Amino acid sequence: MKITVVGAGAVGATCADNIARKELAEELILLDIKEGFAEGKSIDMMQTAALLGFDTKIKGVTNDYAATAGSEVVVITSGLPRKPGMTREELIGTNANIVKGVTENILKYSPDTIIIVVSNPMDTMNYLTLKTSGLPKNRILGMGGALDSSRFKYYLSQELGCSPADLNAVVIGGHGDTTMIPLIQHATWNSIPVSQLLSKEQQDKVVAATMVGGATLTGLIGTSAWYAPGAGTAAMVESIVRDEKKLISSGVYLDGEYGQKDISLVVPVIIGKNGAEKILDFKLSEAEQGAFNKSADAVRNMNAVLTD
Ligand code: NAI
Repeated sequence: MKITVVGAGAVGATCADNIARKELAEELILLDIKEGFAEGKSIDMMQTAALLGFDTKIKGVTNDYAATAGSEVVVITSGLPRKPGMTREELIGTNANIVKGVTENILKYSPDTIIIVVSNPMDTMNYLTLKTSGLPKNRILGMGGALDSSRFKYYLSQELGCSPADLNAVVIGGHGDTTMIPLIQHATWNSIPVSQLLSKEQQDKVVAATMVGGATLTGLIGTSAWYAPGAGTAAMVESIVRDEKKLISSGVYLDGEYGQKDISLVVPVIIGKNGAEKILDFKLSEAEQGAFNKSADAVRNMNAVLTD
């Protein structure tokens, strides 16, 4: 198994670190545009191999796409992250050019790969990758729901005093502060609906905290987060590589599911060796469907910027 991670910055390097520790690949290429940067990060990570006991060969390259040839999975994290006070949407111009160029270069050497898009604004970058690549829709996935659902579980666990790992909770919609929809009515703790365990006030607090989870961290750290984004992306890679068929909220192209067409939004997806193998298209309440449609409108407006 050969995997490439494009962008050796905070998220890309953390994702690569997770991939290596889990030994998801024999060969892992880390590519960045900044001279020597990916090489340095790769050597640093390889110098943890003896300590951590993994056998993945990590190689860093500067813009050398030939080195990525034959990658079965490619993760795209290249692009600007947001600074405090910025929205993900403000990154669109710069990142669209970067993501489009990277996708074209990747496909020259790995025409049948599965791509996971992380760069923001993710819903639009994922849609752009779908359109640029011409790959079947199951081979393009956006990372955002894995992260937002994990943040949702974190905030729920804080209110419930339980382990985040014991919770079932998903976020759908867009990967934006106002477009994501934490499905609190469907969240359970050991099969018990959390709505029966938390007051309305607590539920509202958890939902609000989840939606601004990224912005809260950007305010604290000064740039966007990387541990949970890196782990969320690696979880998606793992489900592909090990054909786990895990249900992970992910950005996928919708063709009628949830009443939407020609758009990439975050929905629960079964991820296996073929990428997005099945979209779980379950019936939302009227309020949830209304919120989903509003998110779709916002993301569609953003996608329109690509052709302006
Ligand atoms: P970073 O600035 O630490 O790393 C980005 C890297 O991309 C830099 O090393 C830069 O040199 C590289 N790069 C820029 N243009 C490139 C090109 N054309 N080819 C190859 N490499 C190129 O940023 P960070 O924190 O790693 O974030 C990366 C992206 O991921 C941002 O757009 C950020 O907003 C997004 N993000 C998305 C999340 C999600 O849930 N979808 C979560 C966290 C971040």
